[in-house]
Amino acid sequence: MAAANKEPIRLGMVGGGRDAFIGAVHRIAARLDGHYELLAGALSVDPEKAHASGLDLGLAPTRAYGSYLEMAKAEAARADGIEAVAIVTPNHMHYPPAKAFLEAGIHVICDKPLTSSLADAKKLAALVKKTGKLFVLTHNYTGYPMIRQAREMVRKGELGTLRVVQAEYPQDWLTEKIEASGQKQAAWRTDPKQTGAGGCIGDIGTHAWNLATFVSGLETESLCADLDSFVKGRQVDDNANVMLRFKGGAKGMIWSSQVAPGNENALKLRIYGTKGGLEWEQEHPNQLWFTPFGQTKRLITRGGAGSIDAAGRVTRVPPGHPEGYLEGFANIYTEAAAAIRAHRKKNGKTPKGVLFPTVTDGLDGMRFIDACVRSSKRNSAWIKP
Ligand SMILES: NC(=O)c1ccc[n+]([C@@H]2O[C@H](COP(=O)([O-])OP(=O)(O)OC[C@H]3O[C@@H](n4cnc5c(N)ncnc54)[C@H](O)[C@@H]3O)[C@@H](O)[C@H]2O)c1
Repeated sequence: MAAANKEPIRLGMVGGGRDAFIGAVHRIAARLDGHYELLAGALSVDPEKAHASGLDLGLAPTRAYGSYLEMAKAEAARADGIEAVAIVTPNHMHYPPAKAFLEAGIHVICDKPLTSSLADAKKLAALVKKTGKLFVLTHNYTGYPMIRQAREMVRKGELGTLRVVQAEYPQDWLTEKIEASGQKQAAWRTDPKQTGAGGCIGDIGTHAWNLATFVSGLETESLCADLDSFVKGRQVDDNANVMLRFKGGAKGMIWSSQVAPGNENALKLRIYGTKGGLEWEQEHPNQLWFTPFGQTKRLITRGGAGSIDAAGRVTRVPPGHPEGYLEGFANIYTEAAAAIRAHRKKNGKTPKGVLFPTVTDGLDGMRFIDACVRSSKRNSAWIKP
């Protein structure tokens, strides 16, 4: 059915049922600006729970599916079937449903990291190209207005030639071996079969690296990584120190940790060039510090004096009213909506200026994780991602 362009985008979801974490965030993000309507789901690995979770959310009983394969087939066969699917399952379960829905002609919005292996990531990138469908990767921190502002300031040369990029993402929730007690989110994140070869580096290090490269525009030439599993018996890393050499000569460091007591989601980015620097913290996302060399430090606030169009176009409320994680996440959904609507037309193209992470960013992220694991295994040798 050719939908009129104002109609909400017909959305489905894989994962995100009862007891799941990020699925609910995706649903809020999809609803915030009214662009999507959730109509179908295969919301759990357990078919009964999947069906019950669908009914909780008000899905029609016939569209609260027991499996993603059943859902892809049935939705592709309906005239009013879903146009896009959000995949919010553990990492090893990104590639199989993404493949099923792309092959069924349905756009994919998927959480990070792209897959649990570099081999799957390459296959997925090739499939996206072949099908011509949209693939949106929810590296949600790229949706924050002050991050968009920082990126634009770097592009305009306000920092001069970049020299140093420091990004860190410390948390503390895996300081003890909570996976042994069956804590669901910890259990799959510390199982290499589900999370992939990288633990903390894949779960949050990849967010920090994605943010560093999104804002700086720099390409990683080589890296040297030191990954640790500090908690005894843990099968994947829970702390990672990574040094980066960028093309053009700038240097960088990424620190990600899930065993740093006192840290919640302390993602932080600092970038310095010949003319000045920028500093941003996820836990205070409406503020961006600009440090022009030799001058007073300036605090730029979202929507306040000094904030620019790049931030304004993804801002909803006036300065001083806090916007945060959910709004940043919603910005990715809203940018994606513009692209999905454009694709409703034959040969439709994503409008200029619309910005969201794609399968290419996901593949880059998987190359980064893979290189970190290889480097660390080789006694922190310098490696090309
Ligand atoms: N962008 C972010 O800020 C962010 C934050 C947290 C998690 N994530 C990512 O989101 C994904 C999910 O993480 P989470 O913490 O929500 O996990 P979770 O364990 O809370 O939820 C996973 C859900 O997937 C379901 N599932 C598993 N296999 C399935 C299958 N074959 N079919 C249907 N459903 C299936 C589970 O039943 C569960 O409902 C991960 O890839 C993670 O890296 C991203």
